[in-house]
Amino acid sequence: MTATPRARIYRGTAHNLRLLAGKLRQGELVAVPSETVYGLAGDALNPRACRRIFKTKGRPHTDPLIVHIHKLEQLAAIARPNPEALALARKFWPGPLTLILPKQDEVPAIVTAGGASVAVRMPAHPLFRRLLQLSGRPLAAPSANPFGYVSPTTAEHVRDGLGNRIRYILDGGAARVGLESTIVDLRDPARPRLLRPGAIPMAAIGRVLGKAIARPSHAAGAPDQAQIAPGMLKRHYSPRTPVQLHRKLSLALVARAPADEVWLFLKRPAGRRPRNVRWLDPHGNLAGAARRLFSRLRELDNGKHAKIHLELAAGTGLAAAINDRMRRAAAQ
Ligand code: TXA
Ligand code: MG
Repeated sequence: MTATPRARIYRGTAHNLRLLAGKLRQGELVAVPSETVYGLAGDALNPRACRRIFKTKGRPHTDPLIVHIHKLEQLAAIARPNPEALALARKFWPGPLTLILPKQDEVPAIVTAGGASVAVRMPAHPLFRRLLQLSGRPLAAPSANPFGYVSPTTAEHVRDGLGNRIRYILDGGAARVGLESTIVDLRDPARPRLLRPGAIPMAAIGRVLGKAIARPSHAAGAPDQAQIAPGMLKRHYSPRTPVQLHRKLSLALVARAPADEVWLFLKRPAGRRPRNVRWLDPHGNLAGAARRLFSRLRELDNGKHAKIHLELAAGTGLAAAINDRMRRAAAQ
């Protein structure tokens, strides 16, 4: 017998938004759409709600949460921003950028894994924004997936992963960006560091700050890295099926491999394509590829394929963010 899912998917009607905002104020969890990926939201200032987030995801308490705010005036209640942080916030918020800053005392220790810094983001999705506004609370929200699995980009993905552990899922359609936010560590504004590449490219951040940003160390899992951003741990975003990465895919390569392996091209290959050939975007458009990556990984991770082959994107910016997620998917 399979467990009956408890979760209900709510459309973003005025009535539902008021209902869900009330649930959040009572310390309940609500899965919310964002422009990046769906989040599992709870009142960031309520330690009980935040503990439930960790429990629901099966997430270790050493991995801190991002606090989401509705307007810039809320920032100072959560963090101690420096001028550099404010410049980035003004330029990129609301949007897929998370800033790491010294925390304020009001933020419960559970949110920051006991650390002195806090991650803050102002999301752009109109339904998430409306919930933030109606609840009147800053909302802690990690991606709404069981710990270690691929992030959800639709309400159905959330239900697939957490449906028997949560009650409320707000449906905001497929996520527009499809990859988690860019994370920049600005605790020391003299030495900004990129902790996670995302849709806001490192170069654009560097232009606002007037200086280059230190790249993420790809010695992921190194002790110091693990402490500053546990999300940089290598094993993350992983499908269950083994994943192999390629700089470039070709139909010739496919023809030589076993038929039970599946091939995810960046761009639709020209010519006669066998059934085990898929693509992220018909034209190889990077925004389209980013938007569909997690969805495709979930579809292909259905137990029917012996291996998933992924084609890396070429270039910097969004390509770097896509490749980062592909590398994590492959690091099993
Ligand atoms: O796009 C996103 O950022 C989505 C949506 C829902 O906002 N959220 C998301 O949350 O991806 P999560 O928990 O899956 O990833 C947050 C990452 C984790 O890797 C965590 O370790 C890191 O942010 N993080 C949180 N607080 C931190 C802190 N104080 N210092 C360093 N890293 C931190
Ligand atoms: Mg996550």
